[in-house]
Amino acid sequence: MSNKYIFPEGFWWGSATSATQIEGAAHEGGKGENIWDHWYQQEPDRFFENIGPETTSDFYHRYKEDIQLMKEIGHNTFRMSISWSRLIPGGRGEVNQQAVDFYNHVIDELIANDIDPFINLFHFDMPLELQNEGGWESREVVKAYQHYAKIAFELFGDRVKKWFTFNEPIVPVEGGYLYDFHYPNVVDGKRAAQVAYNTMVAHAKAVAAFRECNMKDGKIGIILNLTPSYPRSQHPADLKASRIADLFFNRSFLDPAVLGEYPEELIQILQEYDQLPITENGDKELLKAGKVDILGVNYYQPRRVKAKDHLPNTEGPFMPEWFFDLYEMPGRKMNPYRGWEIYEKGIYDIMINLKENYGNIESFISENGMGVQNEERFAENGEIQDDYRIDFIREHLKWLHKAIEEGCNAKGYHLWTFMDNWSWMNAYKNRYGFISVDLHTQKRTLKKSAYWIKEVSENNGF
Ligand code: BG6
Repeated sequence: MSNKYIFPEGFWWGSATSATQIEGAAHEGGKGENIWDHWYQQEPDRFFENIGPETTSDFYHRYKEDIQLMKEIGHNTFRMSISWSRLIPGGRGEVNQQAVDFYNHVIDELIANDIDPFINLFHFDMPLELQNEGGWESREVVKAYQHYAKIAFELFGDRVKKWFTFNEPIVPVEGGYLYDFHYPNVVDGKRAAQVAYNTMVAHAKAVAAFRECNMKDGKIGIILNLTPSYPRSQHPADLKASRIADLFFNRSFLDPAVLGEYPEELIQILQEYDQLPITENGDKELLKAGKVDILGVNYYQPRRVKAKDHLPNTEGPFMPEWFFDLYEMPGRKMNPYRGWEIYEKGIYDIMINLKENYGNIESFISENGMGVQNEERFAENGEIQDDYRIDFIREHLKWLHKAIEEGCNAKGYHLWTFMDNWSWMNAYKNRYGFISVDLHTQKRTLKKSAYWIKEVSENNGF
């Protein structure tokens, strides 16, 4: 690799956030309840240090100050999400004018500061009333989502040019229907498959609504967390295990989103184990037409896969883990403050895969980041000396740069995240931001990495 890393002109430098994680004002401004508000009220003990989503980073009240900080650290783009239950409190029906005003102000403020807003419509935050109707298991909820998407395009599409239907749509499937870390805490493989499928139908319906709006210069995409799957060895059993993990955790969303259809091998496995979701006439065509213009890639860590030592115990609910085991690769590099593997080359492998197998779709790194527990320990005179985060970003950027040099169609890099924020059940446990937030006073302080990214953005590289 070279020792100078200058990115293509117009490269997108920025960061990503989500509504529930930064806005706060959970019971203000006419917002309705979503599943997080509800679950926290039901079971506060399941949230780290019993902290819920009421206040988070208070972006709802402090967005002006925050946008100034974005500008100060060189952002030219910023990803946020709309809270469905803020915009349409019941999930369907009346639009909340206070929410329209809020999002209009945020969008206008970003644009006035030369920051291009990227908007995502769904980041894990199902309106409670719709969850009570079955959430993504219900086709009526899918219809409500399409309506919500259409309203958002109509309200904000004159200024917002990059739209995303979902962030990490596999996470609510895993958390809510397989591994019990999201509401409604169901463990049921077949229901999980239905939720995954209906989410893609909802995606395709939102794409259809977007196309109808005929938005000049507008692009529609999806944001997927891709975890490249690496086999322990070249032994056929390990290769197969790795391929199946890839089918479940990457291709289950990547293929329909970019190619417009599901991988045949995945369908066969689900069929063999009687896990296929219920479909409707016309779905195939809808999914075909729902191919995205742009793909956001969230990359945190790889998946190290080996064949199972024993035949799977297929009693109990269907699980992807029936087909493979994970292992800890000897000598792997770890983020000691979060417990995730760091494998920078993964970002390159993803991009090459998109180039070779997915038509070199326009993409960008929509999340990448390093979570750190008790990050206050690295503060000097109040400023967090996060050299580990600078190294983390720099090394990933080097691999991204190499991918671009080799012709990959990657347009930008967004860190997860702009400022420390509330992360679902993990609440404030792992800090990811360029900017630290004092939980009690809400004071924002730039970390060392914020000054570093400012320079990188200004030089369009390093
Ligand atoms: C990402 C999600 O995958 O991980 C974010 O999109 C989340 O919403 C982030 O906050 C970090 O997760 P954690 O569990 O390390 O706090």
